[in-house]
Amino acid sequence: MKYDSRVARLDEWGSRIIQHRDEARKAFALMQAIRPCMRFLEIGSRKGGSLYVYAGACEPGAKIVAVDPSIERRPRIVLRRVVQALEAEGYDMTWIRAESQELGALQGVQGAFGNESIDVLHIDGDHSYDAVSRDYQIYSPLVRTGGVIILHDIDNPNYEVARFWKELQARGEAGREWKSGKASGMTGRAGIGVVIK
Ligand SMILES: C[S@@+](CC[C@H](N)C(=O)[O-])C[C@H]1O[C@@H](n2cnc3c(N)ncnc32)[C@H](O)[C@@H]1O
Repeated sequence: MKYDSRVARLDEWGSRIIQHRDEARKAFALMQAIRPCMRFLEIGSRKGGSLYVYAGACEPGAKIVAVDPSIERRPRIVLRRVVQALEAEGYDMTWIRAESQELGALQGVQGAFGNESIDVLHIDGDHSYDAVSRDYQIYSPLVRTGGVIILHDIDNPNYEVARFWKELQARGEAGREWKSGKASGMTGRAGIGVVIK
């Protein structure tokens, strides 16, 4: 299956997906279900694991934007390899090296997508309550009706994403959630919540 083969390929570049495999598989399937995915924005890409895997649920030639300040050298080198691999597969790649809450990042995203709305937004950057709620506030309006917003770590007790997810639930905006418990290779629970616009 395409999901498994993309996860397996990450080894080639020293990358890995920092997601619970079962949860990410469900997010991948949802991305395929809401097709077409011609525009995908990821906030927080680290070594490009989820960027590479989720890109596989997008159409050939899709526009993909990764926002990550990529301060650490090793993850930056790996992300560069993954971006190059995605370009070789025909995706139209933009990597914005900035914090997503900076005005320059939003301007970069708007410049990359032009006036076109986004099909999929993946929020997995700064996991503080303020940052996640700001990311949602700034970038969710760019997502098309019927598009999807994927929030990572809604079940991670080390982060504050759960608090924001509960707010979305109270506002009636939250859609499905997947909480699979602790996965091998991960330090604890993660959890994915989705909003269908
Ligand atoms: C958990 S990692 C992302 C993992 C990746 N999505 C995956 O599953 O393979 C979080 C990333 O968010 C980035 N980050 C932290 N604060 C950020 C911000 N304000 N804007 C964008 N990215 C940020 C970090 O540099 C790090 O690479």
